[in-house]
Amino acid sequence: MSLKLSEVKKSYLQGSQKLEILRGLHLEVKKGEVLAILGQSGSGKSTLLTLLAGLDTPDSGDVEIAGTAISRLGQAQRTAFRGKKIGIVFQQFHLLSHLKALENVALPLEIAGDPEALSKAQFILEQVGLSHRGEHFPSQMSGGECQRVAIARALVTHPEILLADEPSGNLDVKTGDVVMKVFMDIVRKNHTTTILVTHSHELANLCDRKLNLVDGVLKP
Ligand SMILES: Nc1ncnc2c1ncn2[C@@H]1O[C@H](COP(=O)(O)OP(=O)(O)OP(=O)(O)O)[C@@H](O)[C@H]1O
Ligand SMILES: [Mg+2]
Repeated sequence: MSLKLSEVKKSYLQGSQKLEILRGLHLEVKKGEVLAILGQSGSGKSTLLTLLAGLDTPDSGDVEIAGTAISRLGQAQRTAFRGKKIGIVFQQFHLLSHLKALENVALPLEIAGDPEALSKAQFILEQVGLSHRGEHFPSQMSGGECQRVAIARALVTHPEILLADEPSGNLDVKTGDVVMKVFMDIVRKNHTTTILVTHSHELANLCDRKLNLVDGVLKP
């Protein structure tokens, strides 16, 4: 099992009000499986990815990734674990504004000390159709271009686990189809365990399995 959540609960405090978002959620994902998560806006999909990424911890329950209970690690250990094993495409991209597109994509490889960081980054930028935007800063690119840079950055390290939050949300149908085909080809080739949050049933149907986040739990 590559990924396992048991009895995961997460709520947010909004003033004196407690918002219960995840209410005892269970999930098991096999190694190499590509899982789509659907659900209404506000249902907690991004919250779930945040816990899977170890960017936050559940109120109770366990998040286990590749045999490690990351929900029980301290923050520094979670960060190190994430850097080694997990690629993330954030809903809001989170590109570094002072780095050019190519540098953003190369960064995770640079951090890992890969001498071929730039050439590998260039190759994957080409695959998402952005070889001509390598020297642009995020502020000089469209939303869809930034999204493709974020996808390229998440894929470039060939992570064991890939978390993608509406990766085609800002792309027109044609570009979305091309980019998601590249995305699927890469995760299939690398046997990457992938959790894909999407509103697109078409994209969800390309996955091995799809689940709906409803009332704080995952349902078929
Ligand atoms: N830090 C926070 N503090 C308080 N409430 C939060 C916080 N983060 C999220 N929420 C609330 O939790 C709920 C779930 O948010 P989340 O971002 O997980 O939804 P989502 O399913 O990803 O929605 P969308 O499809 O719009 O991206 C929302 O109602 C949101 O207002
Ligand atoms: Mg979201």
